[in-house]
Amino acid sequence: QNKVVEVTIVKTENKTIINKHIYGHFAEHLGKCIYGGLFVGEDSNISNTKGVRNDIIKALKDLKVPNLRWPGGCFADTYHWKDGIGPKKDRPSIVNRWWGGTVEDNSFGTNEFLDMCEVLGAEPYLAGNVGSGSPRELEEWVQYVNYESGSPMSELRKKNGREKPWKVTLWGVGNEMWGCGGNMTAEFYANLYRQYATFMPDGKGDKKLFRIASGANGDDYHWTEVLMRDIPKGLVEAVALHWYSVSNWEKKGSSVKFDENQYFETMKAAIKMEELVQKHTEIMDKYDPEKKVALIVDEWGGWYDTEEGASALYQQNTMRDAMIAGVTLNVFNNHADRVKGANLAQIVNVLQAVILTDKEKMVLTPTYHVMKMYNVHQDAQLIPLKIESPKYVFDNKELPAVSVSASKDKAGLTHISLVNIDLKKENKVKIDLKELGIKNIKGLVLSSSKVQDYNTFENPDKIAPVVFNKFSIKNDILEVTIPPFSVVVLEGK
Ligand code: AHR
Repeated sequence: QNKVVEVTIVKTENKTIINKHIYGHFAEHLGKCIYGGLFVGEDSNISNTKGVRNDIIKALKDLKVPNLRWPGGCFADTYHWKDGIGPKKDRPSIVNRWWGGTVEDNSFGTNEFLDMCEVLGAEPYLAGNVGSGSPRELEEWVQYVNYESGSPMSELRKKNGREKPWKVTLWGVGNEMWGCGGNMTAEFYANLYRQYATFMPDGKGDKKLFRIASGANGDDYHWTEVLMRDIPKGLVEAVALHWYSVSNWEKKGSSVKFDENQYFETMKAAIKMEELVQKHTEIMDKYDPEKKVALIVDEWGGWYDTEEGASALYQQNTMRDAMIAGVTLNVFNNHADRVKGANLAQIVNVLQAVILTDKEKMVLTPTYHVMKMYNVHQDAQLIPLKIESPKYVFDNKELPAVSVSASKDKAGLTHISLVNIDLKKENKVKIDLKELGIKNIKGLVLSSSKVQDYNTFENPDKIAPVVFNKFSIKNDILEVTIPPFSVVVLEGK
């Protein structure tokens, strides 16, 4: 039994808002994410709105998806947006060379994606093609979606049946330029970025574009250093970072059959996000002490072996994934002064998905529930906390067992999210409610009997949040017992 540890509030003058975009998602033309996932087509027997499944629309609206990144990923740097507009019968087919050589018929293109985002109430985040595109192609894409009138592209949009522009603010300038985006050096990409960003137009009186430079692969700190050093401030609003919770890329292992060692190693990789964010932030602070340029972790999550016979990058989602989500989101919340956005990879049927589908069936994963429990932090004010975490010990190795983050929302409600990754031990923490200005507490917990548990189409609610009552309040001190491998979110007022 570990001792009760104290969670203390860090006193600071700075008021940091947890940007809702930290809770963003990602949809790539990959496996069954778009086709056979989000998009079934208007003629489908499955109830849909303009081809997008209504059950998914409902689930994603409930989740409060703040932004959705599209069309890739690696696919983005082979995607030519003009292939995906106009009458569907005239759209060319291409081969999706990154993801299994499937035929991409371009029936889901710019109009379909942006209309879907409107229905979801999510801000679109368009990833531009730098690797095999041109500045002109990207410039015209911006004009197509953002210009009211007067440009050949705004007229083309109107011809395609959409009078008003969508006004897209979030733009990625290439993806993984160190890899599938073109195998570039940081120095070469920084120059290319300057060129592309120069030709990304703001319309008259428009909201300014938020341009996101393709970021580092994990701990490639040189990449961030070069981008921050070589790209002039006015040309870039954010640099990205990609990190997956994978311990061994050659042997990723099964998404459901894993032992404690594999679990421990996955957690270690997930917790590494703390170090990555800290170190990339240190570099950014050097060039941008005022924190004008954001860090956007636009790909994160667990990545295991694709299930046998399944579509590309399809994997199950267990309580281990709930742990990844809880720990990672706590890192982002706690670094919200620099991390202004993030995108979980990916939204449906790919990697750490929040939704899985099989024909007409749909299931919400444990990760969905964590993202939903945590959405209370969106645009709330961060309450910086400190915890001397108890250790999760396995096989002479150790990790911090408990992670925590907290915020106060506009209605004055305080939310504290706690994760205990220890597979065997519950952990107790105490928090001074007087310091937080709280009198009453209620909470939800996500847990299950085995960490390998997951929701199935037959038993979709096996893992779902339930009311949490393992806490006591004495003399304004709240003592919380966090069960093994569980996520708890408390609400105080
Ligand atoms: O999310 C799957 C792939 O992972 C993306 O296409 C790529 O950007 C990353 O390597």
